[in-house]
Amino acid sequence: MNLPICRTVTDLRATVSQWHAAGEKVAVVPTMGALHEGHLSLVRAARGRATRVIVTLFVNPRQFNNADDLAKYPRDEEADRAKLASENVDLLFAPGVEEMYPEGFSTTVSVAGLSEGLCGAHRPGHFDGVATVVTKLLLQTQVDVALFGEKDYQQLSVIRRLVRDLDIPVEVVGVPTVREADGLALSSRNVRLSAEGRRKAPALAEALATAGMAIERGEDADAAIARAKAAIKRAGYSEVEYLELRDAETLEPVSRAKRPARLLVAAWLDSVRLIDNLPVLPPSHG
Ligand code: PAF
Repeated sequence: MNLPICRTVTDLRATVSQWHAAGEKVAVVPTMGALHEGHLSLVRAARGRATRVIVTLFVNPRQFNNADDLAKYPRDEEADRAKLASENVDLLFAPGVEEMYPEGFSTTVSVAGLSEGLCGAHRPGHFDGVATVVTKLLLQTQVDVALFGEKDYQQLSVIRRLVRDLDIPVEVVGVPTVREADGLALSSRNVRLSAEGRRKAPALAEALATAGMAIERGEDADAAIARAKAAIKRAGYSEVEYLELRDAETLEPVSRAKRPARLLVAAWLDSVRLIDNLPVLPPSHG
């Protein structure tokens, strides 16, 4: 398999500086492995924007607020490597925990505001863990472009802000969510659904789409959201953690889509927490 791996920041930087010295443009796709088509779409988008593509694979313990979730996170480096090799990725950076968080590591990157509410309210410390590891990965790789999925929309917003606030010289690109034919957003967690759960799962995306269309037609957002929550519960989800309309850029709560907005949802099915989101445009006045 022709996909070089490096495990240390020193080796990684040596390769990237050679590429930069040769005038190449370098992109990174940060991942935690368990790669699916959604990740591969990020890799393909990276290929369209750079001459060299690095994928990072690191299951970041600091972003799991639940030890069980971390223990259950699927890990299969060989399978991931094979997928990346067939996409002609140039380098896999797969550091160990010691390399990322050596003894005495004591810095946290925390993005106020955007990390609070939505997933942040239900997963304490999660976005501090994400912000810290992504800051490290961007500084370690020193790439020109970094790509992240819109599926994790709040995460993408947090990353855009930290890059801006900390003057990290990288272009952040958000890539649209890849969906199954029935609308379910691709996620590493989908494999944990039972056959019955998998059948019910698309109700989440359906409810978002219906609510989004209603809000875009100018209907009352609160009523559309209440109907969407009821539809998700009726479909068999045990709990809707949140379903909210937020400003697409600031993630401030909004009651109408006066500017581009986003509907964001997290809900539980089969003891699996699924998230999704959808752009909502202001109602047309035509
Ligand atoms: O989206 C993910 O897979 C992770 O949160 C990320 C961005 C790789 C950081 O660990």
